[in-house]
Amino acid sequence: MSQLSSRHLLGLEDTPESDITLILNTAETFSEVIERTIKKVPTLRGITIVNLFYEPSTRTRISFELAEKRLSADIVNFSTSTSSVKKGESLRDTVQNIEAMKIDMAVVRHSSPGAPYFLTNCMDANIINAGDGSHEHPTQALLDMFTMRRKYGRLKGLRVLLVGDVKHSRVIRSNLWGLQTMGADVALCGPSTLLPREVEQFGCDVYTNLDEALEGVDVVNVMRIQLERQQAGLFPSQREYTNLFGLTKDRLKRLNKNFTIMHPGPINRGVEISSEVADSENSVILEQVTNGQAVRMAVLYLLSGRKEELA
Ligand code: CP
Repeated sequence: MSQLSSRHLLGLEDTPESDITLILNTAETFSEVIERTIKKVPTLRGITIVNLFYEPSTRTRISFELAEKRLSADIVNFSTSTSSVKKGESLRDTVQNIEAMKIDMAVVRHSSPGAPYFLTNCMDANIINAGDGSHEHPTQALLDMFTMRRKYGRLKGLRVLLVGDVKHSRVIRSNLWGLQTMGADVALCGPSTLLPREVEQFGCDVYTNLDEALEGVDVVNVMRIQLERQQAGLFPSQREYTNLFGLTKDRLKRLNKNFTIMHPGPINRGVEISSEVADSENSVILEQVTNGQAVRMAVLYLLSGRKEELA
């Protein structure tokens, strides 16, 4: 099978194992391209891609933009601060006007869960979800899985702990669904006030005690705690969060040998993870960022339907 089952990448909840495997295998080829002196292939020549970022982003936005450039696509970057969204133009009108300029693919980040799904009804372009509210962030989870698979040679059977704001984290949701599809043994950990009501339906171990959760784990993926949740009263203080859920060097002894530390960024150093752990030899945080480009190149290439040699 060399084609994805969908012409969009909206989330991993319903993405089959065969699609995830195809994306990860294709990303291996592109990871070799970005190590070359000339990091560019003609694969998407003639394809026009718009990057629609309605929310701030550093890693995802730059990673998509570089992936598109390395594939020789023509690209347009849209941000709300410099657009007619400031004059009240709706999402539908904005994207239909952009599509009228003959674009083929759209990468979208939006604070509303479901915004990428909405776009599939307003546009003919292939839509890629770059993070929709607290719903999903599929390319982040794919690059996380790619990074794990590279280190361990497999995902099946790996014990992966996702720590943080389970209720609001799109990275946790996409990782959970993607990793479960790939046969990993996933566990969640966070304060009870930051667990969603439906957590029991997730089909995984759930902890509110980090020290217990860390026992026997291969990979810990630590999420940024959104400090605005404290203002909403969902945890008492930053210091208490750090004491109970912060990943510190002392806590690492509970993990399996050859453990891995991950974080999607941006990091609150000294809050959800200590600098010592974030910068330690078992941390692959910057490798995740590097691998993001190859994974996004693979997603763009596969969704484009181009049949050319990859590289
Ligand atoms: N990991 C991630 O989505 O980071 P950005 O918000 O900087 O894109």
